[in-house]
Amino acid sequence: MRRAGFVALILLSLGVAGYAVAVYGLLPIGSLLHPEMRATYANYPAGIYAHVFGSVVALALGPFQFSALLRTRHVQLHRWLGRLYLGIGVLGGGVAGLFMAFHAFGGLPARLGFACLALAWLYSGYRAYLAIRSGEIAAHRRWMVRNFALTFAAVTLRLYLPAAVASGIAFDTAYPAIAWLCWIPNLVAAELLFNRTHHPAIAAAAAGLRPPSSPHVER
Ligand code: HEM
Repeated sequence: MRRAGFVALILLSLGVAGYAVAVYGLLPIGSLLHPEMRATYANYPAGIYAHVFGSVVALALGPFQFSALLRTRHVQLHRWLGRLYLGIGVLGGGVAGLFMAFHAFGGLPARLGFACLALAWLYSGYRAYLAIRSGEIAAHRRWMVRNFALTFAAVTLRLYLPAAVASGIAFDTAYPAIAWLCWIPNLVAAELLFNRTHHPAIAAAAAGLRPPSSPHVER
């Protein structure tokens, strides 16, 4: 990935992670939200706090896992961050996110959108885990690209919502559509941009060979 894109990815991810920690760590529950959402969160505080503080781990750590430097020179750190990313972020945040999907604002369309996102997030994380446990590095990379594209829905949702409201679309109309739009285009873009790359290292990993100039990572 080009450096500017990577830096933007890090800044956007850390920005939304910072928002979540500050607002849910310091303010009364659901302070900045629609009154209906605030009431729901007050009814399910364990669900929303588990979701926010679990998922934030994935959003804050995820971008760094794509750093080639971390993967090749600091493999142990990459592994430990990966365990936190998948175990706390995706598994913890995803199960709580699935629970919160049943109570989401915006009726059935929004609830289905968030539930499908949660299931896709959990499934892609599981596939990435299985792949690395069986030493399939190329498959692990592909599934992690998909998984982080879904994690990044937390960012795209918070870009699209204010943009929709600023362009005159009512919040109640925008929200159910954005429950889908925040993640499906991310998946398509990730697949087209990062999973079609015929990089020699990826091709070599897919064929089970040692890449020509980068260290082989045993798992
Ligand atoms: C990718 C899978 C995710 C799913 C399925 C998901 C699902 C949900 C659902 C259903 C809600 C409640 C929405 C409502 O009441 O209408 C919610 C709220 C929230 N989620 Fe997620 N989420 C995901 C990822 C993330 C990530 C990675 C973060 C990281 C910061 C995050 C942070 C939040 C926050 C802060 C809220 C409360 C609303 C707000 O203050 O903006 N979510 N999420």
